[in-house]
Amino acid sequence: MNGQIQDWGEMAQMRLSEISACSLPGEGVTRLPFTDEHRQANKIIAGWMQTAGMDITLDAAGTLVGRRQTGGKRGTKTFILGSHQDSVRNGGRYDGIMGVALACLAVEKAFTDGCGPDFAIEVHAYADEEGVRFPTALLGPRALAGSADIAVLDFADENGVTLRAALDAFGGDADAVLSIARESEDVIGYLEAHIEQGPVLENDNLPVGIVTSVCGIERNTIRINGKTGHAGTVPMRGRRDALVVASQIISELTVRAEALDELRATFGTLTLLPGAVNQIPETVTLSLEIRSPSDADRRAFSAMAHAFTAETASACGCTAAMQQNYVQPAQDCHAPFMDKLEKASLVHQGRNRLLPSGATHDASAMAVLCPMAMLFVRCRDGVSHVPEEHASATDMGIAIRVMSQFLKSL
Ligand code: GLV
Ligand code: MN
Ligand code: MN
Repeated sequence: MNGQIQDWGEMAQMRLSEISACSLPGEGVTRLPFTDEHRQANKIIAGWMQTAGMDITLDAAGTLVGRRQTGGKRGTKTFILGSHQDSVRNGGRYDGIMGVALACLAVEKAFTDGCGPDFAIEVHAYADEEGVRFPTALLGPRALAGSADIAVLDFADENGVTLRAALDAFGGDADAVLSIARESEDVIGYLEAHIEQGPVLENDNLPVGIVTSVCGIERNTIRINGKTGHAGTVPMRGRRDALVVASQIISELTVRAEALDELRATFGTLTLLPGAVNQIPETVTLSLEIRSPSDADRRAFSAMAHAFTAETASACGCTAAMQQNYVQPAQDCHAPFMDKLEKASLVHQGRNRLLPSGATHDASAMAVLCPMAMLFVRCRDGVSHVPEEHASATDMGIAIRVMSQFLKSL
């Protein structure tokens, strides 16, 4: 271990503090993919990987890959640990990058303890999980899993720079993205540590928790059409006000979602036309995002929302259409890996907590390639995507011990 710091968790905290400076100016951390800040961060991450005995490459999709070939009995197989380097705008210093830091330290610890595995081990720092710069995300893990859609390479950022151009200028190779897919039989599995981004572990007074599944997600656009008119002269009775319909849909579907365990329904955007103080709203467009660890529950809620939207609009003399524009299935974590994490965390914190992930992660894309597991680290006040995001050195130290023990147990 470097310098004066003797504690694995303190080392993680120090590294995360250093790399948080790789950010656009402003509050918190803003580190978008394929930028100067990303380049600076990769230099630091490469140092962490080298300290863990790894050789470094940047793959075609822009993932920084550290690899330690062991020459052991299972030397042709690889176990992968990883997470993302990017942040949201004015985010914290843990979401994503903490998983990369903890992975490097867990590998370093396993070998320092003389218990390094007999298979090759890789740590991945994916370029883009947040999808802030381009209207897409997860290119890195999807390329490895053979599920990348290369049409996204033509998507542009707000300055008109395409993902293809940004990736190539960064040192990736857009034309080779499809060629880096791994074979499932070569990959033993994938482990990702991530800040919980919610209050469950804090409420349960536990440093780490074992993830059971990464939620499925679907996004829909609901468009309601009514009739505009003068706000003062059209009587209240008989109005075909699209916003009134939207408000009924929002209220009722929220109540119905509240009654369902682990399902989330969010109306995140809303626009209305004509959008004037003295005109009745004629057209309202809103988004409905539905998440659940159960694809069946998500689909059932979606079908119900579809029907309810049409009925509510029609009862008010309006029309409505609900169109799905994105879907990502839920991914279960691998039960044998969860068992190993449970055994390890029992040793280091005395009891276990299992919890589903309501956020999506690189792990959901890697699950298409290989068995996957995730470890959550307690997050102060349950807040994330803000500068106040915080995980303690003690909790990260426990996570490193659990991950390291997990690696030894494979
Ligand atoms: C991103 O982390 C998401 O869950 O949308
Ligand atoms: Mn995030
Ligand atoms: Mn994240």
